[in-house]
Amino acid sequence: KPIYVLNGPNLNLLGLRQPEIYGRETLADVADKVSALAEELGLSIRFHQSNHEGALVDWIHEARSEGAAIIINPAAYTHTSVAILDALHTFEGPVIEVHISNVHKRESFRHHSYVSLRADGVIAGFGTEGYLLALRRVASLVAK
Ligand code: DQA
Repeated sequence: KPIYVLNGPNLNLLGLRQPEIYGRETLADVADKVSALAEELGLSIRFHQSNHEGALVDWIHEARSEGAAIIINPAAYTHTSVAILDALHTFEGPVIEVHISNVHKRESFRHHSYVSLRADGVIAGFGTEGYLLALRRVASLVAK
């Protein structure tokens, strides 16, 4: 079963968007690093990004029937989306929430996450390495 790696709005501009906060790597670079580690760990991944809330909900539903685990950076929807939280509640496998930046060091509206109410683990402030750490965690959770 594949691991879904889902990315929310504006992450298509990773590398260009506020590089002082999010770094200079692009999302394609992240996808490559995640794929390389997945191959090493013997996992298959489905890496997606959308600027649309409903597209993220649809991938979570797809993961419901096909996925072993979900790694999600919901981006701004972290702080607003009951729909993504509800979708994640329909999924029974491990869910890891990733943020590239340390959201707790930033504006107070970034301190609350709807997704954290469902996530089994949260990684924030590790840059794009957070995706790799999340994948390692998922690998050990799905092996159990
Ligand atoms: C983010 C943090 C969110 O607050 C922000 O809206 C993002 C990216 C991160 O990866 O640090 O778009 O999820």
